[in-house]
Amino acid sequence: MAANEERSIGIVMNGVTGRMGYRQHLVRSILAIRDQGGLRLADGTVLRPEPILVGRNESKLATIAKEHGVDSWTTDLDEALKAPGAEIYFDAQVTSRRVEGVKKAVAAGLNIYTEKPISEDTETALELGRICRDAGVKVGVVQDKLFLPGLLKLKRLVDGGFFGKILSVRGEFGYWVFEGDWQEAQRPSWNYRAEDGGGIIVDMFCHWRYVLEEIFGPVRSVQALAATHIPERVGEDGKPYACTADDAAYGIFELDGGIVAQVNSSWTTRVFRDELVEFQVDGTEGSAVAGLRRCRVQHRSMTPKPVWNPDLPATEDFRSQWQEVPDNADFDNGFKAQWELFLRHVVADEPFSWDFLAGARGVQLAELGLQSAREGRRIEVPELTL
Ligand SMILES: NC(=O)c1ccc[n+]([C@@H]2O[C@H](COP(=O)([O-])OP(=O)(O)OC[C@H]3O[C@@H](n4cnc5c(N)ncnc54)[C@H](O)[C@@H]3O)[C@@H](O)[C@H]2O)c1
Repeated sequence: MAANEERSIGIVMNGVTGRMGYRQHLVRSILAIRDQGGLRLADGTVLRPEPILVGRNESKLATIAKEHGVDSWTTDLDEALKAPGAEIYFDAQVTSRRVEGVKKAVAAGLNIYTEKPISEDTETALELGRICRDAGVKVGVVQDKLFLPGLLKLKRLVDGGFFGKILSVRGEFGYWVFEGDWQEAQRPSWNYRAEDGGGIIVDMFCHWRYVLEEIFGPVRSVQALAATHIPERVGEDGKPYACTADDAAYGIFELDGGIVAQVNSSWTTRVFRDELVEFQVDGTEGSAVAGLRRCRVQHRSMTPKPVWNPDLPATEDFRSQWQEVPDNADFDNGFKAQWELFLRHVVADEPFSWDFLAGARGVQLAELGLQSAREGRRIEVPELTL
């Protein structure tokens, strides 16, 4: 296509009334790309995303469409998949609804982009991968944490050899999710019901898989302890329900090269950290603490020599002994950055590495984490192929 020509691309967006579908994918990604005047491809073509909104609730959809100037919306997925110009199906529905939506969209010949996890079990994830491969459509799965400024800076440190030999990684993720009785919960109730696809292991271990692997190396084993600390919560309907899924998970992962990663994931902890997720990495040459946006380091040469003496108050301000890693780049919203890569993949055939095999690897770690918790043992992580 000649330079400066415009080309539109229809994106069927299912689940845009949900937290992720609305805020991160519709508003912060697709509408943000539209509002910046489209996405300029390498050959100069300007790509204009045209969302086609799909959901279950007509009035919610109509309100969102009106508020954001979107012309096309429907409660009928089949109708949306046949819409003229539709080339991509995006799914941010509850996880348990994903497989059905994706299968329909592949059958209609659309390229697929979905939220994680792509399914509730590994076998189904691989099956979806094969269906998409055989249909010759392009696929992608959201792996947003890789695009967080803090983790991008951490990766830069690893790539630059800052750590020497990396010994260990300690991750803390979590915050208090209100029970819904005296203050409304800030997460949907299905997250706390295993039968509806909930649970923090299913939710977070797929993130930890790609974060650990892309920054440090392959995950070889998992050992997890899962807990349901809050046994009853109050749902969106104001009624109490039994929590059947884990709301906290204490995981240990062995990575290639003897790196030990411990990651706590919890919806039942109060934050005494600078950010909602933080990873401390310790290496022979230096250490780093990376969060959503910030990354701080302490080099070997700047490491103090504390002496254990509980009889005296701390004499050093340990936090002040770390240095801030500069941005040295502009960081866009991570969901939008990944959407732009996927759009370039679909339209201009540029590479995109987070396919359904990557998605299945995330589901696999969650599944093995749950198995480890059930059986109380460490479990090796076998290689997966489509
Ligand atoms: N990438 C991330 O960081 C991240 C964070 C949170 C959630 N997620 C994923 O995004 C997906 C959506 O999560 P969310 O937190 O936005 O959930 P949500 O409950 O806020 O939204 C769910 C959406 O699915 C639709 N839906 C379809 N069938 C449904 C049913 N039977 N019950 C309830 N809703 C139904 C809802 O209408 C809504 O649009 C999940 O797969 C979740 O794992 C990803």
